[in-house]
Amino acid sequence: MSADKRPGLADATRGRILFGGDYNPEQWPEETWHEDVRLMRDAGVNSVTLGVFSWAKLEPRPGEREFGWLDRLMDLMYENSIGVVLATPTSSPPPWLGRLHPETLPRDEDGRSEWWGGRQHFSHSSAAYRRYAAAITEDLAARYGGHPALTMWHINNEYCTYDWGDEAAARFRRWLQTKYGTLDALNSAWGTAFWSQGYGDWEEVLPPRHAHYLKNPAQVLDFKRFTSDMLLECYVAERDIVRRHTPSPIPVTTNFMPLWVGQDAWRWAEEEDVVSVDLYPDPRDPLGAQHGALVQDMTRSQARGPWMLMEQAAGPVNWRGVNHPKPRGLNRLWSLQAVARGADAVCYFQWRQSRQGAEKFHSGMVSHAGEEGRTYQEVKQLGAELAGISGEVTGSHTSNDIAILHDWHSWWAGSHEGRLSTQVDYAEVLTTWHRALWQAHLATDFAHPEHDLTAYKLVVVPQLYALTDAAIDNLLVYVRSGGTLVCGFLTGIADEDDRVRPGGMDPRLRELFGIRTLHEWWPLDAEETAETDGFCGTLWSEEIEAAGDASVEVAYKGGELDGLPAVLRNGRAWYVSTLPEPHALRVLLAGIAADAGARPVLDGLPDRLEAVRRGDLLFVLNHGRESVTVQVPGTHRDLLTGATVRAEVTLGRYGVVVLRP
Ligand code: GAL
Repeated sequence: MSADKRPGLADATRGRILFGGDYNPEQWPEETWHEDVRLMRDAGVNSVTLGVFSWAKLEPRPGEREFGWLDRLMDLMYENSIGVVLATPTSSPPPWLGRLHPETLPRDEDGRSEWWGGRQHFSHSSAAYRRYAAAITEDLAARYGGHPALTMWHINNEYCTYDWGDEAAARFRRWLQTKYGTLDALNSAWGTAFWSQGYGDWEEVLPPRHAHYLKNPAQVLDFKRFTSDMLLECYVAERDIVRRHTPSPIPVTTNFMPLWVGQDAWRWAEEEDVVSVDLYPDPRDPLGAQHGALVQDMTRSQARGPWMLMEQAAGPVNWRGVNHPKPRGLNRLWSLQAVARGADAVCYFQWRQSRQGAEKFHSGMVSHAGEEGRTYQEVKQLGAELAGISGEVTGSHTSNDIAILHDWHSWWAGSHEGRLSTQVDYAEVLTTWHRALWQAHLATDFAHPEHDLTAYKLVVVPQLYALTDAAIDNLLVYVRSGGTLVCGFLTGIADEDDRVRPGGMDPRLRELFGIRTLHEWWPLDAEETAETDGFCGTLWSEEIEAAGDASVEVAYKGGELDGLPAVLRNGRAWYVSTLPEPHALRVLLAGIAADAGARPVLDGLPDRLEAVRRGDLLFVLNHGRESVTVQVPGTHRDLLTGATVRAEVTLGRYGVVVLRP
């Protein structure tokens, strides 16, 4: 199927926001199914995900099939106009598989098995696992591919396993042979001249297992790439099976974990019809809304359009140290935040809170308190509101003026244990830069460093330690064609093999930013700051010498770096050699954005308020507990209440308006 003929989210939504969640009816007697359906209908649930963890129920013994219960459920859903996102059950193999084929169990760096008794205990590299997974997928797809309740296929669940075992080692070698061709090329890319690591036979090459001291960084980097690729192979194999059996345009997805380190989601998104994500901000975290915004911006950018919020929690999760419920209104607020940022599906883990098993204290849309409980009552209210705005919202997409560059390979390469400061955490730096823009009410997309960036007014690079030549060329072309670029420290240090670039930072980038020499990196301790004539720097500082034309916008003050550039500007290219404390970063980026012509979504918005454009609609969200009045030029209608809004609107605690001009 060619890419443009592929089904998409619109084929599943058909103009309605999908609302529902993971439904695990195998945990309940059949009477409860009927009660569930009544409650679902009352709450406006139009989509359930079935079968995510049903392998043992579908295949109780090797090769046996028990589909009767699922037949009844599919029919029940269809009779009640509830669409089914049908999952392949391959993320949690039944105990018999591990017993019959111990090689399907993944091994850690020390060679220890991950046993059944939990979940996700499968090796992506195991031929037996892949064979059994394909067989159950084949039969499931053949049986339900034409069922009228089916709206989407959901492959596996949160692919995230690693394996250092023997079968993985064999596949790793084959993957490396395809990549490098010869051992000489591998030895060169991995820099094996260091510490006597030269390989003379492919059989000597292993995944980076437990070692006495620091592991080879290029080997570790390739292993991370390999892991992402093997999981993707598993996904693609199942995706192709379900596609083969599915006559009508039924899209295929798999759910990402938010900003998860193990999966190159840019690459994965290309293989999905629908990009979906699971999102669980901590209700107690004052910056939970920003975490949500980041993940939503990233998911929308991967989808290049509407996307699916596959899982969120209606109340507490059960995997933090202390698990807080959502205060009244927060579930609605965060759900509408996702819709504002492009979600056409608002779904949960899970429909009914379990009474047994490891997640019995994790919330569901129907909590232990049942129908009368606040959680269900709020879910029901939300369902009605989503149904009310669906027609105006679904399918619309907004791209923004600012792109934040992000790349998994660079993250992997920059995280090696032998780096200069373990205080520098890629995800935290990325989050800090996104937060500065978010707090300045500047809307952002994410992009891969090799994407076409020319439509953006401003491109920011919080940190891209390793860049390919193509990515560097892309940045140069972007600035040459009129774009404004701001780069943070530790960018352009290494090539794609994690080989340090000449001079410690790519010469073309040094020229772009006006850096004559990078003498030394000066990482900072946890509580240490670097004084400048503008702000306090944190985490990192650098001894760099500016070249002729570049202007030192902010200089270090005192200490070893006195007078040297903390912020350096060369025309439209900016370089920030430390992490300014949060307020300063916000002011710096807001100023540069204004010069570049990127405007806030609304002017004069107070903190805790967020404004997001989606198509013609303007969403305004109050993340605070105090009422706030906001100026909104013009006249609008609030789609949630039908009220007319002239020039200003007051939002109560966790309030939201969805404004149509
Ligand atoms: C997700 C997972 C769900 C459930 C949920 C709990 O990672 O996909 O099955 O475990 O977390 O928050």
